[in-house]
Amino acid sequence: LTADHVRIVEVGPRDGLQNEKKSISLETKLELISKLAKTGLTTIEAGSFVPAKWVPQMASTSEILQHLIKKPPHSDNQIAYNYLVPNIKGLEDLVKIMDAEGATAGSKGDPEFSTTTEISLFAAATEAFSKANTNCTIAESLERVRPIVALAKEKHIRVRGYVSVALGCPYEGPNVAPSKVADITATLLEMGADEVSVADTTGMGTAPRTLELLKALSAAGIANSDLALHFHDTYGQALVNTVVGLEHGVRIFDSSVGGLGGCPYSKGATGNVATEDLVHTLHSLGMHTGIDLEEMSRIGSWISDQLGRANDSRVGKATLAR
Ligand code: HMG
Ligand code: MG
Repeated sequence: LTADHVRIVEVGPRDGLQNEKKSISLETKLELISKLAKTGLTTIEAGSFVPAKWVPQMASTSEILQHLIKKPPHSDNQIAYNYLVPNIKGLEDLVKIMDAEGATAGSKGDPEFSTTTEISLFAAATEAFSKANTNCTIAESLERVRPIVALAKEKHIRVRGYVSVALGCPYEGPNVAPSKVADITATLLEMGADEVSVADTTGMGTAPRTLELLKALSAAGIANSDLALHFHDTYGQALVNTVVGLEHGVRIFDSSVGGLGGCPYSKGATGNVATEDLVHTLHSLGMHTGIDLEEMSRIGSWISDQLGRANDSRVGKATLAR
């Protein structure tokens, strides 16, 4: 990444859809991913290998992976498809499918591969959220990371880590200790994660507390190049906090087309910051994303219609109204 280039991680097909009550067909999910693949995005979260009884909407992830291996959508650039795995079983399920299809993870940057397969694992910065989201303590969740990273490395699968509730917890409130977030982030990186996305799950983050958190991460020796920021926009602060992250030197941001989403274990949390809004803000600041804003806006409007929900992207609506 050059200083003025930002990589956007599109999490709509996973974070965006996982909380939708109405069942979404496999065809719609694949169509969403196929459309996103043509916007210039380079990383798309495509699903998660979690028990259907916990997150029913993600039950079709196996089929999505199979499809993306066999018939990846056309794209002018290489795309990394990412899958969430909460434990070793999730990764084993993924690897089983890849092995059955004779697929390799591919390696980013190698032009031989049009797509690569990556995973994300997750931990939380508070005990209460860890229990709710993963049914275990923070320490236990970090123990779960070891075998996941070991198998991923063996299979050449790139690993992303998440640290949830970094700027506020639905159970413990807004004042999550930055040092705790920094400790967990550092631990995930030491354990072999290739990048860690620090998540404001509840959208409680403010500009000053985002800055405080980023300073704590830097003070703990964490390089900006190893960091991503994942803002939910529940309080409308995601873009302000993005600018704080950008000024601090972070160059990877997560977002969701149409502002889709919410978290099943964070009551009242609305979607991720809309990709359209993020792209518009970044471009206005002279940053490059490689993303076609008009195309992204059309997708935000299309998927909102499909889901029968309002389009949560102001920029998307304004762009299409022009
Ligand atoms: P558990 O119930 O404690 O698991 O859940 P267990 O190990 O006791 O197993 C119970 C049953 O589930 C067993 O089956 C296992 O085989 C099965 P049974 O013997 O009863 O028939 N099982 C699985 N099945 C399919 N896939 C698996 C799997 N693992 C076990 N991977 C567990 C523990 C971690 C699995 C559960 O708590 C879980 O799935 N948590 C994830 C919940 C989730 O998906 N949350 C949303 C994603 S995270 C997020 O949105 C935050 C993020 O966006 C960042 C942010 O904004 O903060 C990333
Ligand atoms: Mg999230």
